Amino acid sequence: MSDKKLWSGRFSEPTDAFVEAFTASVEFDQRLYRYDIQGSIAHATMLAKAGILTVEERDTIIAGLQQIQAQIEAGQFEWSVELEDVHMNVESRLTSAIGDAGKKLHTGRSRNDQVATDVRLYLRDEIETIRAEILRLQQALLDKAEQEADTIMPGFTHLQTAQPVTFGHHLMAWFEMLERDRERLADCNKRVNIMPLGAAALAGTTYPIDRYYTAELLGFARPSENSLDSVSDRDFAIEFSAAAALIMMHLSRMSEELIIWSSAQFNFVDLSDSFCTGSSIMPQKKNPDVPELVRGKTGRIFGHLMSLLTLMKGQPLAYNKDNQEDKEPLFDTVDNLKGSLKVFADMIPAITCKPDSMREAAMKGFATATDLADYLVRKGTPFRDAHEVVGKAVALGVSKGCDLADLSLEELRGFSEQIDDDVFQVLTLEGSVAARDHIGGTAPAQVRAAISRARQRLDSE
Ligand code: ARG
Repeated sequence: MSDKKLWSGRFSEPTDAFVEAFTASVEFDQRLYRYDIQGSIAHATMLAKAGILTVEERDTIIAGLQQIQAQIEAGQFEWSVELEDVHMNVESRLTSAIGDAGKKLHTGRSRNDQVATDVRLYLRDEIETIRAEILRLQQALLDKAEQEADTIMPGFTHLQTAQPVTFGHHLMAWFEMLERDRERLADCNKRVNIMPLGAAALAGTTYPIDRYYTAELLGFARPSENSLDSVSDRDFAIEFSAAAALIMMHLSRMSEELIIWSSAQFNFVDLSDSFCTGSSIMPQKKNPDVPELVRGKTGRIFGHLMSLLTLMKGQPLAYNKDNQEDKEPLFDTVDNLKGSLKVFADMIPAITCKPDSMREAAMKGFATATDLADYLVRKGTPFRDAHEVVGKAVALGVSKGCDLADLSLEELRGFSEQIDDDVFQVLTLEGSVAARDHIGGTAPAQVRAAISRARQRLDSE
C-alpha cells in the first residue's frame, strides 16, 4: 500500500522502514477510533458554524466519517502502519473517499490536541462503565452482608484471633473501601472531562474557532485554559491510574481473604465451582484461581502507574512523542480493572459461607478475652488490672486446652473476686458482638443499620 504520509511535504527521503514501524501507534491506538471520529464531527460542526467550512463541506465530512466508522465496525477498514496512527488513518481514508473537503478537516487543529481529546473522551466513558461495575459489586456485597448480618466469625489482627465479629460487618468493610473507590473515580472525572481541542499544536490557532461550542457538542464541562498545558498534560491519566491501583489493591486484599478462607485449614467459605479450577495432577484440588488471578493482576496495574509517572517526569512543555507511550499502560489498566471488577461482582453472590466452621474458629482463640476485661471494668476493676487478670485466665485456658467460657466459676473467681455467675453471658460470642452496639460497631443491629444507610446513599445518587 502506498499511503502518502500526511506530513511528507518537507521530507526528501522516505522514512526508514523500521523507524516507520517503531514510531507507529496504530496497532494500539486504533481502539480510539470512535472517539477520534466523534471529536472530528464536533470539530467540523464548529468549523462550519464559524464560517471556516461551508455547510456542504461539513455535511460531506460528517457523512464520510460516519461511513468510515461503519467500515471499521464491520471489520472492513484496512489499518495502515505507514499512516502511523488512528488519526491519520481516518483522515487519509476520509480524503480518499470524499476528496478535497476531507483535506479541510484538520484546519485549526493538530494531532496534539486531537489525541489528548480522544484519550479524555475514551477515559470518561470507561470511568462511567467502571463506576457502574463497582456499584454492581457493592450491591452484591450489600445483599450478602444482609444475609450474614448475624453470622459470627473470628475477627483478626495480625491474622491472630482478636475478637468475634459478624461476617456481615466484615463484608461491609469491603463495601466501604469500594465506596471510596467509586467516589475517587467521580472526582477524577472532573479533571478528565475538560476539552483540550483548539489548543492545536501548542499555541492555539489563528482561525476564529469557538471552543465553548465544541466543548458543548462533546459534552465536556469546559475548554481547557492553557494550550501548552492542554497538549502535554497526561496527569488526568496518571490520576485515573492511581485510582485504578487503589481499586486493585482493595480487590487484592479481598482476594487474599477469600483464598485463605476457602482453604481446608480455615474452611470459612466455599467458592462456587464455576469460579475455580482443578489440578491436572491432584484430583482433590479445587483452586481459587479467580481471586488469585485478580491478586496477581494487581501487580501489572501498579506497574502501569509507575510507567505513566515516569513517562511524564522530565518532559518539557509542550507535546513530546513520549506521550504516545501513555496508551498501552492506560488501556491495559482499563481492561484488567474492568475484568477484575466484573468477575468479582459475579463471584460474590455465588459464595457460600460456612457458619459452623466460622463459629468454631471464633470459639478457639480466646476471642472474648476483651469482653471479660470490660466486664471487670464495669464491676470497678481498673482496665490495666483487668487486662492482667484476664491474661492469667487465658494462660489457664491454654494449659487446660479450653476456652474462657469452659473454665468453672471457681476457677475464674480464683483470678478476681468480682467475677460472678453473670460472667458466662458476657463470654458468649453473641453477647460479645451484640455489645458493640454503636455506629461502626459489629453488632448485628448496627450492621443492618449500616446496610440500610448504604442502600439509601446508593439510591439517592
Ligand atoms: N500518535 C500520537 C500520540 O499518540 C499522536 C500525536 C502525534 N503528534 C505529533 N506531533 N507527532 O501521541
